[in-house]
Amino acid sequence: MAAQKPAIIAIFGATGDLTKRKLMPALYNLFLDKQLPPKFFIIGVARQGEEENFRKYMQDAMGQFSRRGAADTTKWSEFVSRVSFISGEFTDPATFTNLAERIASEESEFGEPASQIFYLSTPPSIFGTIADGLGAAGLSKDISRQRIVIEKPFGRDYESSEALNNELLKSFDEKQIYRIDHYLGKETVQNILAFRFANALYEPVWNRRYVDHVQITVAEDVGVEKRGGYYETSGALRDMVQNHLLQLLCMVAMEPLVSFDADEVRNKKVDVLKAVRSLAKMNPHDYAVRGQYGPGMKDGSQTPGYRQEDSVDPMSTTETFVALKLYLDNWRWQDVPFYLRTGKKLARKLSQIVIVFRPVPHLMFSADAADNFEPNRLIINIQPEEGIILKFQAKEPGAGMRLSTVSMGFDYGEAFHAPSREAYETLLQEVINGDTTLFMRDDQERVAWNIVEPLLEAWQSRPANTFPNYSAGTWGPEASDMLLARDGRSWHNPMLFGNV
Ligand code: BG6
Repeated sequence: MAAQKPAIIAIFGATGDLTKRKLMPALYNLFLDKQLPPKFFIIGVARQGEEENFRKYMQDAMGQFSRRGAADTTKWSEFVSRVSFISGEFTDPATFTNLAERIASEESEFGEPASQIFYLSTPPSIFGTIADGLGAAGLSKDISRQRIVIEKPFGRDYESSEALNNELLKSFDEKQIYRIDHYLGKETVQNILAFRFANALYEPVWNRRYVDHVQITVAEDVGVEKRGGYYETSGALRDMVQNHLLQLLCMVAMEPLVSFDADEVRNKKVDVLKAVRSLAKMNPHDYAVRGQYGPGMKDGSQTPGYRQEDSVDPMSTTETFVALKLYLDNWRWQDVPFYLRTGKKLARKLSQIVIVFRPVPHLMFSADAADNFEPNRLIINIQPEEGIILKFQAKEPGAGMRLSTVSMGFDYGEAFHAPSREAYETLLQEVINGDTTLFMRDDQERVAWNIVEPLLEAWQSRPANTFPNYSAGTWGPEASDMLLARDGRSWHNPMLFGNV
């Protein structure tokens, strides 16, 4: 099994937030679940710090961020004996020669070559510098063993994403580059493919003949928290739509696969993105809504608006909410609108895809058989609830024919009696295995920028003058409801608790 090959994982930016919140807990959980190769070694690389403090800092982080809570002392000591630390500037060649020596010495302990994974948990502005350093130290040329992992943002637009890619390609081959979109590591997102393609029931109706429209919502109840500085340069369109929401769109809209091969999966996704009707051909303002949260109330106390958050311009026109209507120009989806929305400080945390089917062609029941006759809906809950619900009509008990909407559901936790593992556990394991299926390929990245760019330009040339335009704790600006209302539709806004 590929996973059994030894692996050395070097994390650049090892004292940063992502390492303590996600990467180290994920690696430790993989270790506890015996999913790491028996021979593994982790090297933290950061500008400053020293080994003992780093290990202690990571142990403390487990208590705060691991899904299993505080680390068991014996298990942790076993794990941490395979964790070391190098401090050094990323611009200094000595940092990379040190790393190369440490890797060589571990490999000689292992008695065999290891997969070498370089995880760049650093600001994107230094991805190129680190890739150069790795290249110069001879840590990039072995396509089968050496891999580089990067986190979004992959540029700010098409051009800068291409420039970043060219920098990486100076030292690494595309096959060695793992671009993370953590949504692809979520069990419920991967399950969309199982649901669609391992069952015969749904695929025949998964098209324009039966589907009226699709809604994709990724709502957060938190604001920008401590990331105001970054968010000011990004906004919701770059931060969420260009990546996570378009990935969900691909999973729902892609054609059936011929095989479960990395490039086959990624080709089919690129096909979806290429089919998106360009917003440049239309007035983007008719297809998109932006918003920014104002002050609000949470648990009885006042919460700041976006403009009052740390490191945010008090007159900022950065959007914290986006709603979009997209069309796919292909045989399967012609004329079926895909409504996408995402925002911060919304009514509740919720990632959900709703497939709304067309009404039955002829309703033989009397008009008063139902107070609220709803066509079928399939609700795919990504998080925090995890599962799938089909809503359909049923006869109410009693005399006569009265109809009500009822639900049939699958709940991950109930069905599998196991908590879902974290997206980063899955993604790190796939990098260790050398499987690129769940990672973004460069062409996919660029087509995704093509989709959002007309809107980025349109919004930049006409800064919003109505911000803030929604209160914290709501479902976003009124214009978002209007976007659907104009088409005679409405958002599926689930209850504040529960999953339908
Ligand atoms: C990140 C964004 O990619 O995804 C954040 O930068 C956002 O702004 C986060 O909060 C949401 O991820 P999740 O897994 O909590 O839905």
